[in-house]
Amino acid sequence: MDVSRFCSAARLVIVAGKGGVGKTTVTAAVARMVAGAGLSALIVEVEGKSGIGSVFGRADGLAYEEVVLHVTSGGEGAGAGEVRARTLTADDALLEYLEGHGLRRISKRLSQSGALDVISTAVPGIKDILVLGKVKQLERAEAADVIILDAPAAGHAVTFLTSASGLLDAARVGPIRAQAADVVELLSDPARCQVLLVTLAEETPVNEVVETAYKLEDRVGIKLGPLVVNGLYPYLEGLDVDPLEAATAAGVEVTDEQARDLREAAQFRRRRQDLQAEQVQRLAEALPLAQLRLPFLFTPEVGPAQLDVLAENLVREVAGLP
Ligand SMILES: Nc1ncnc2c1ncn2[C@@H]1O[C@H](COP(=O)(O)OP(=O)(O)OP(=O)(O)O)[C@@H](O)[C@H]1O
Ligand SMILES: [Mg+2]
Repeated sequence: MDVSRFCSAARLVIVAGKGGVGKTTVTAAVARMVAGAGLSALIVEVEGKSGIGSVFGRADGLAYEEVVLHVTSGGEGAGAGEVRARTLTADDALLEYLEGHGLRRISKRLSQSGALDVISTAVPGIKDILVLGKVKQLERAEAADVIILDAPAAGHAVTFLTSASGLLDAARVGPIRAQAADVVELLSDPARCQVLLVTLAEETPVNEVVETAYKLEDRVGIKLGPLVVNGLYPYLEGLDVDPLEAATAAGVEVTDEQARDLREAAQFRRRRQDLQAEQVQRLAEALPLAQLRLPFLFTPEVGPAQLDVLAENLVREVAGLP
């Protein structure tokens, strides 16, 4: 598939998945891919502590005001692209909603009194609706060519995305119902929104992503985009060769101890490769979705240079989609 076609398939891309599987990293890689295609990407972070800034080489965290994280100069026929980012919390969204409805004075007092916490205990899902309502507004306003939402972690991703349809059942009338209806309409429209589920090729993450995928399709009618299988160890050839023999053949000297270490390392890597191949296969059988596979990078942290590598891999994988 053409990368720019993939990037313009839906204005909103929601990146979701279990905690720690690489949602934030994948969000950043998608944004880089969008910018590389000469388009503008807006990253929206909802928990305020994703660490997305550092992936782009920034020391400080994000704020409610947008910041520019990356600019591409264009080339290869593409125009200049950019990555911007901002946070979006329920409190900010409520303040903005109230101010937009002429309630600036009470909005200040509400936020100071912690009233939103009281309300959200009484109306489960209200915070998610406030956030997604604001996301919907950004989508409507065409805030960027592609808006990428780094969704909350773990089990919360499902609640986050299903709360609108839950509220739709609970609230018969009123502004909450209208807001929830708009959000459900957005989430279930494949021309406006696409969800990328991220997973690792390991037993538990695979089980969870399969469960999440079915829940999202059944409860919200979300059409899922390709799965992102992150952190795959690149396949190494020659792991079956005995290190001592290989060294001798190459005219290199190794001690018995080094040969033993190499044998153990090769065995570990082989097991790991077999295990991930098995899990990738299991995932393909359980979910009839295309897979975008990203390599595990052997670095202490993912910064701009590593992000470039991941974005290049993502572009290649997207280009390989039917
Ligand atoms: N392909 C990769 N290669 C190497 N390291 C990676 C890769 N993807 C993610 N990581 C690292 O794994 C850790 C978790 O990634 P990330 O923060 O993107 O996950 P997350 O799903 O957003 O986590 P959380 O649920 O806490 O928000 C980070 O330290 C990140 O740098
Ligand atoms: Mg994250």
